[in-house]
Formats: sequence, C-alpha cells, structure tokens
Amino acid sequence: MSRPDHHQSPAIAVGLLAVTILLFVLYRIALPKPLAGIPYNVSSSRKLFGDVPGMLSHIANEDGTFITYLEQTLQRLNAPLVQIFIKPMSQPLLVLGDFPEARDIMTRRTKEFDRSTSSGDLVRGLGSSHHIHLKTTPAWRAQRRLIQDLMTPSFLNKVAGPVMHQNASLLIDLWRAKTRIAAGRPFTASADIDQVALDAVLVFAFGERFGEKHSAIRPALDAVRDMMQQNSGGGTNGNVSDEPVVFPTGVTDPVVSASLELVATVEDVQGSPLPDLKWWFINSKPRVKRATKIKEDAIKREVEDAIRRLNGATGEEFVKSAVDHMVFRERTLAEKDGRRPDFFSRIMMDEIFGFIIAGNDTSSTSISWGVKYLADHPSAQTKLRQALESAFASAAREGRSPSIQEITDTHNVAYLDAVIEETLRCSATVPVVDRQATVDTELLGYHIPKGSVVTCLVTGPSMMSPALEIDEARRSETGRLAKKSEGRDGPRAWDLNGMASFQPERWLTTNSKKGGDGSIEFDAAAGPQLAFGLGTRQCYGKRLALLEMRILITLIVWNFELLPCPPALSGDKPILIMTNRPKDCYVRLREVKRGKN
Ligand code: HEM
Ligand SMILES: *[C@@H]1O[C@H](CO)[C@@H](O)[C@H](O)[C@H]1NC(C)=O
Ligand SMILES: *[C@@H]1O[C@H](CO)[C@@H](O)[C@H](O)[C@H]1NC(C)=O
Ligand SMILES: *[C@@H]1O[C@H](CO)[C@@H](O)[C@H](O)[C@H]1NC(C)=O
Ligand SMILES: *[C@@H]1O[C@H](CO)[C@@H](O)[C@H](O)[C@H]1NC(C)=O
Repeated sequence: MSRPDHHQSPAIAVGLLAVTILLFVLYRIALPKPLAGIPYNVSSSRKLFGDVPGMLSHIANEDGTFITYLEQTLQRLNAPLVQIFIKPMSQPLLVLGDFPEARDIMTRRTKEFDRSTSSGDLVRGLGSSHHIHLKTTPAWRAQRRLIQDLMTPSFLNKVAGPVMHQNASLLIDLWRAKTRIAAGRPFTASADIDQVALDAVLVFAFGERFGEKHSAIRPALDAVRDMMQQNSGGGTNGNVSDEPVVFPTGVTDPVVSASLELVATVEDVQGSPLPDLKWWFINSKPRVKRATKIKEDAIKREVEDAIRRLNGATGEEFVKSAVDHMVFRERTLAEKDGRRPDFFSRIMMDEIFGFIIAGNDTSSTSISWGVKYLADHPSAQTKLRQALESAFASAAREGRSPSIQEITDTHNVAYLDAVIEETLRCSATVPVVDRQATVDTELLGYHIPKGSVVTCLVTGPSMMSPALEIDEARRSETGRLAKKSEGRDGPRAWDLNGMASFQPERWLTTNSKKGGDGSIEFDAAAGPQLAFGLGTRQCYGKRLALLEMRILITLIVWNFELLPCPPALSGDKPILIMTNRPKDCYVRLREVKRGKN
C-alpha cells in the first residue's frame, strides 16, 4: 500500500474534479429533456430514468399496467396531452388522451403523422419485412396489394368463414364435454379461446388441410373426451363447488408449438430500452433458431403446395386460403411487371407469419373479454340470445347452431354488432395507437419536433372517462373544421353517464331517416372508438377479426348460458403482454337446449 506523495495531491484533486465535472455533464446530458409547454411529471424529469421508477412502482403496488400509468398521469396533470420519459437519452413520449385530436392526426394529418417505428419494436424480430414496419410509402402500398383482397366479403364469407366456422364448432364440442364433466363448476376459458383463435388464423392463412395436420384445439378435445369416458356420469350430489375444474390440454403439435415458442419471445422484448439489440440476441439463441426453422419450413411447404395446385388450376377457383391467394397474386403481379415471380421472398414469408402474429392474440383477447362481459351482464346476454334466436329462427326450430351462411347473410343482428363493438371499446385489446411526426409540427398548439412519437390512448379521457378540457383554439385547423361539422363527419361524444361501463345499447339508434321505419339499427359511428386505429394505417385485419368475433360469440351464446363466476375468478384487471388481456378468464356454463332436443 503506498500513500500518494505530497506533490501528487494537486494532480489527483484536479483529476477528481475533472471526473466529477465530466460525470455531472454526462448526467445533465442524460437527464430527460422536456418539450416546451407540454405538461410532465416534474419529479420524473429530475431522474435519469425519468418516469420508469414511478411506472414500475405503479405496476407493482397498484396492480396497474403501463397503460393505467399513462391514464393516471393524464388525470394527475389534468391535461389531454402530456410527455413522459421512458427511454434515457431519447425524445420524450407524447401521450394523447383525446379522441377528436387522435382522429385528426390519424385521418386528416397523415402527411405529418405516420406509422411509428416504435409500434413494431415488439414484433420486429419475428419478421422485419412485414408491412407494419413501413411508413406509408409506395413500398407499403405494393406490399398491401399482395394481400388486399383477403379482406373482401367474397374471400371472407366464401373461403375463410366456412372453415373458421367449422373450427369454432370444435370449441363448442370441447365446452360441451367440459360442461358435462364440470357439472356446474367453473373452468378456465382462456387457453381454449386462445387455441380456437389460433386455429382460426391458421386456417385463414393455410386453409382447411393445414388444420387437419396441425390443429391447436384438437389435442385438448381428444384429451377431454378420454377423460369423459373415464368418469362418465360424474355426478356431484348437488354439491356445486366454486373450485375450478382443471382439464388436460393434450400434446401440442410441433409446428404449433414452434410458433408458440417464437411468439413467446415477445415477452422478453417487452420494456427493453434497445429492442433491436434484444431481438438480435434472442434470435441468435439455438432454441429460437430451431423454432424459426420449423416455422419457415412449414410456411415454405404450404407455399410449395399452393404453387403446385396453382399450376394445375385454370382460374382463381383453386384459392382455399390466404397463401393460395398470395401465390396467385404474386404470379399475376410478376406477369404484369415482366419479372419472375418470387414466391419465397422475405416479404411473402413475413406477411404470412404476420397473419398469425397480428391475428391470434388480438382476436383471442377480444373474445375472452367478450365472454367475461357477457357473464357479468346477464341482461345483455339474454337480450343477445333473444336477438340471435329471432334472427336465426330456423336454426332455433331445428335445434342446431346457425350455419356460416346464416351468420354472414344476416347483416342486421343489431344487438350482436353492438355487443362486439362494445367489447372492443371496453377491452382496449390493443391499448394504444402510435403515430410519429414526420416533420416538425404542432399538436394542440405545442411545437413538437420531427421524430416525436405520439401514443394515443384507446381507453382514457374522452373514451372511457370525461374528456379533459382543451382550449378549442389550440386544435389544428382540420380539427376545428371537423368539430364544426360533427355528427355529419364523425362520431359524437359519449354520454358522460355510464361512459366507463359495458352498455351495448350505446351503439344502437332508431332509424328515423326519411323513409326509415323506426327500427333499431346498429350505428358504427355512434361515438368514439379507436380499437382498430383509424385512417390509412388502421388495422388491416379488422373485417376478419369482426367476422371471427361474430362467429364465436354467436356460437357460444347460442349454445351456452354464461353464468357468473365466483368473484375470486372474475376480476376485471388486465395484464399487458402483447395485448391487454384479462388476468382471469373463467366460465361457468349451462347448456342451452332448444328445438328438437
Ligand atoms: C380484435 C382483433 C384486433 C384488434 C383489436 C386489432 C387492432 C389493431 C390496431 C389498433 C392496429 C393499429 C392501427 C393504427 O395504427 O391505426 C392494427 C394494425 C394491424 N392489424 Fe390488427 N387488430 C386485430 C386483428 C387483426 C387481425 C385478425 C389481423 C390479420 C390477420 C390484423 C392485422 C393487422 C395488421 C397487418 C396491422 C398493421 C397495418 C399497417 O401497418 O398498415 N389485425 N390492428
Ligand atoms: C410524479 O411521480 C411521482 C413518483 O415518481 C408520483 O408520486 C407523483 O404523484 C407523480 N406526479 C404526477 C403529477 O403525476
Ligand atoms: C378445422 O376443422 C376441420 C373440420 O372439422 C378439422 O379437420 C381441422 O382439424 C380443424 N383445423 C384446426 C386448425 O383446428
Ligand atoms: C363439496 O365439495 C367440496 C369441494 O369440492 C368438498 O370440500 C366438500 O366436502 C363437499 N361436500 C359434500 C357434502 O360432498
Ligand atoms: C396466440 O395467442 C395466445 C394468447 O395471447 C398466446 O398465448 C400464444 O402464444 C399465441 N400463439 C401464437 C402462435 O401466436
């Protein structure tokens, strides 16, 4: 141990001072840099990690999520636009909780606000060539052309719908078996709904034949049928417990489980400050590489099969799945452009897997919430069942479920549409819609620099709670013009009374137009809704999602009464993973008998 010599001390002191100054300067550089005028949490702005500590403590101590933290911050600062600091050394995140302004940037100010790079962070590693990652450029348009016809009524109702309906019926079979065994006890519904939703996108993407090989729900059904044979009768002597029954799940198909494994990596990326680096790290793990190969091989096999059948076909008749359609489309586009078709391009691969990533969690989450809301609102459920019974009178008479033709032909089951729309409104499955400023611009009168990300709350003020006050003069010109023509141009505001509760009736109006017959109609523009985003970049799969919800909610409510679950199993707290899922999703079912039975 040597003590420093006396003559060295000044040098050390100077050195220490320099280091201290440097650290201080670095610290100042790293501290959040608020944008002028936009409210923020002052104590967060003095921390290196900004809002992160406050947010983590909210999540841990108040049973909240990132989204409830955002909502709380807006309320506490009493402002519809705030900034929060969640990534050190980067621009603040702007949080907007006001429907008219959000609609304005999504539908009218699209030159200034486009898809945000951050929206895709969570899924980029699963397919970076998917169009969700592109700004609204000609490249985005070209990519969308490859898949645009898949959302037409002719594809949805004639090709995808019938297979989805068949597969949804497997859920009904499974639940019928479970209901008999459970004899009044509750059981968890989320895994079954996840599987049927996964099967729905799988058959949409790959067609019925793929489903025969790789079904997600089939193993569960087989396992429960085995169980039923073993404890046939299974009476409970009138002792109906609240204890949920645990059912076997069966063995998951390898292709399905590889996809599950890949999608599960999203959770590791959640909350990472450097998502692209994290993805690189995840994708270099041998386990993930193996799952990726299984997934890609499965997609390639389906594409090859489609090419083979296309070559033997004469027209579009051979189209039985999204992949079939895309192969057909790629050949047509290539012919037109005078190039060789590229059936196995990264774009094809990522667009195909994209159906599964974008369509699986989202629809299963929305359907899970729908099942919960209906169980917790028995009068809405009864009204829905009556509406279905009168719309599908012959199915009721014949004691069978409505067919896919009946479901897609009957456009005006107003109460069904209202239940679906209200489920989407209340659940906030995708809880925020992001846009990024493409130029220096203004938002509610504040200057915001190019690159700023605006995250619009799907629930929150003006959606589920009263709007926070805005000086109308601060709105953009387009916004002010739109407000003036409100009613004609877009939705009105929700009635403050019961704004936060599940009320399908809010979507119904009386047809009082000239020549109207005073009947009750569903009105999609009855009030604010952001569940699918808005404008050019709104959800691509909206119609598919609505059809899937239509099929599943119809079949579930037609065949079962959803009885309330014990309070311990019916909390309404969400958990945010890829989507805003219900923490608990249990059902307690009673079979509905009608007609021939
Ligand atoms: C209930 C179910 C669903 C919900 C709540 C939902 C919600 C959303 C939302 C909020 C967006 C962002 C919109 C915006 O920025 O304005 C989005 C985008 C998207 N969704 Fe969905 N979605 C659902 C189902 C689906 C399905 C079934 C598919 C496809 C099979 C799908 C494919 C997509 C794609 C590709 C985009 C990106 C579009 C683009 O960037 O141009 N979604 N979705
Ligand atoms: C700011 O954050 C702190 C915790 O980090 C919290 O206690 C306080 O309530 C927040 N203030 C506002 C106005 O959100
Ligand atoms: C869909 O239903 C068909 C017919 O019942 C069945 O053969 C197939 O396995 C199912 N597919 C999936 C993915 O569940
Ligand atoms: C009723 O069921 C509960 C839980 O399954 C059990 O603890 C209890 O002993 C049962 N009572 C009778 C009378 O069978
Ligand atoms: C489908 O969604 C469920 C529910 O979020 C999730 O657990 C599962 O991993 C997803 N599977 C795929 C292949 O995306």
